[in-house]
Amino acid sequence: MSLTQDQLKQAVAVAAVEHVRPFFDQHAIIGVGTGSTADLFIDALVAHKERFAGAVASSERSAVRLRGHGIRVVDLNEVSSLPVYVDGADEVTPQLAMLKGGGGALTREKIVAAVAQRFVCIADGSKLVEQLGRFPLPIEVIPMARAQVARHLTALGGEARLRGVVDGKPFITDNGNVILDVHGLRISDPVAFETLLDGIVGIVASGLFARRGADVLLLGTADGVSTLLPD
Ligand code: A5P
Repeated sequence: MSLTQDQLKQAVAVAAVEHVRPFFDQHAIIGVGTGSTADLFIDALVAHKERFAGAVASSERSAVRLRGHGIRVVDLNEVSSLPVYVDGADEVTPQLAMLKGGGGALTREKIVAAVAQRFVCIADGSKLVEQLGRFPLPIEVIPMARAQVARHLTALGGEARLRGVVDGKPFITDNGNVILDVHGLRISDPVAFETLLDGIVGIVASGLFARRGADVLLLGTADGVSTLLPD
């Protein structure tokens, strides 16, 4: 019997807890991402919550879930480094470049990842792709720059659509900005494209995580959880 996507996410969440266990000690602060796979990771962390000091969350959503489980949430400004950051992805390549931000938390995810010594990507097998871009690329934009950034993205060959109503409300990020989801891109050089996007005034961050990709990918497949290192 084949496993559902949710069962694969559950398997990688449990594997991720095993993966981070060596980092646990009474002072350890763990970086925690956002999304349905990260939610399952948070749930699986609970059994170990006495073995580490707390977590930095990449979104309000994850912070609420962590606190709900009695795990201390620490402000990133209070830590100088994190031993490990665990997060999902919408797409990931064999080189472990990622496209992220389906949940809209990409900027905080990128900030927390920048502070972490090790990025552990957790994903079900459907997320592994040879080339990024089939999933629309989320870009967080300062609201007044929305139209000018969209024009730039059109010139780059994409079709930028403002993320509209989500769960009955216009989508606004935790940072008070909007998201443009860019359709129709085929990203052959993720590092170069991330750098290009970072140079466009009004973009806060893109959902391309290539310059700082993952260090390891835990991939849930029908044959179990595989541990992949960058090609
Ligand atoms: C959140 O902003 C995203 O970057 C998520 O990490 C990504 O969308 C993966 O989400 P799922 O685990 O829900 O697929």
